[in-house]
Amino acid sequence: MHIPSLIEKKRDGKDLTELEINKLVKGFTSGEIPRYQMSAFAMAVYFKGMSSDETTALTRAMLESGKSLHFSGKGKRIAVDKHSTGGIGDKVSLVLAPLLACDTNLIVPMISGRGLGITGGTLDKLESIPGFNVNLSKENALRQIEAIGVVMMGQTVDIAPADKKLYELRDVTATVASEPLIVASIMSKKLAESLDKLVLDVKFGSGAFMKTETQARSLGEAMQSVGKLMGVETHVKYNPMDQPLGQTVGNALEVNEAIAALKGEGHADLVDITLDLAATLSSTPRQKLRQWLCEGKAYEKFLEVVDYQGGKSDQLEDLSQVHKARVQRDLRAEHSGVVTNVDAQVAGQVTLELGCGRQQAEDRIDFSAGLSGISKIGDTIQAGDTLLTIHAPDDTSADTACRQMSTAIRVE
Ligand code: URA
Repeated sequence: MHIPSLIEKKRDGKDLTELEINKLVKGFTSGEIPRYQMSAFAMAVYFKGMSSDETTALTRAMLESGKSLHFSGKGKRIAVDKHSTGGIGDKVSLVLAPLLACDTNLIVPMISGRGLGITGGTLDKLESIPGFNVNLSKENALRQIEAIGVVMMGQTVDIAPADKKLYELRDVTATVASEPLIVASIMSKKLAESLDKLVLDVKFGSGAFMKTETQARSLGEAMQSVGKLMGVETHVKYNPMDQPLGQTVGNALEVNEAIAALKGEGHADLVDITLDLAATLSSTPRQKLRQWLCEGKAYEKFLEVVDYQGGKSDQLEDLSQVHKARVQRDLRAEHSGVVTNVDAQVAGQVTLELGCGRQQAEDRIDFSAGLSGISKIGDTIQAGDTLLTIHAPDDTSADTACRQMSTAIRVE
């Protein structure tokens, strides 16, 4: 098959056959098709879209690019997971996976991604914990699930390898916000988990890939129909992403905030969304789920995950010292009033440029960078109050971030 002709076909808005899609995914996964050709293909899909048959074929091909997790003793326990379409400060998975695993009827084989575009990724956040290994073999993942009911890992060369490679490309080629590419990326990973139940947290708003609720609903419905077709009970929740979730954006900063939530001290918006998603998957009453956070049971489970995956759990309590940015700069309110906007898109772009994400596939993440103490819409502010704190590698980037964030926060 002549690959430039396939790219050309999609570029010109024509539908690809299942065979052609399989060929592309197989060739890309094996390394036969180079990254520059797959980038061009992703851009063609970005502009021309895909039919639902093409999207299903792409999802299936990406799923079949690797192995799936199959659990022994399933039937006794229900395999569940959640995936978000991506947001700013979205650290829900860090809280939700251990919380769900407190329910002994459930297993949580969570496969997540890295930062994508302006949004952060669960894997990068977890890797800010010294020693934490997200690259588990299938055998080790299954062993861990058997032992503690939960794993928090990434796509590997064995499991969802096509998504691992395409995800890295899309992150740095402005090809993230494409419905068929998002459907195939998310659903190929989730289907590789052999789930019984999945909940999708579909975001819309300035900090999301889908800017409007209409676009988000179209994405949610497309993922739900692929889930149904493949026999997974798929629920969709739609949540706004106009201001950052919680009060931090940035890898280690978000792990700190997630730990507070796992101990029952999370910000209301983070806790509410986590409980909503948990209650969709677990038959445990919401009040009991909340109690598991407040009593520290969910935190205990998180510590087990960290220990099993090689993380240094004794360093969790002072992660802010392990990853301490060289410069910390407060952005202060010029006048008193009420916060009416905290633009999530600007916050995402600022943190990406501070080093929380990648500009090129090989870039190293700065785990210490980000924003903390972010004011929330509705907060009453006095002139001179701190609106947020910038964590930056140097004064120049702190100055730039300060300037940009002062346009993102409105106090009226
Ligand atoms: N999350 C994913 O795993 N993939 C996407 O494309 C977007 C969000």
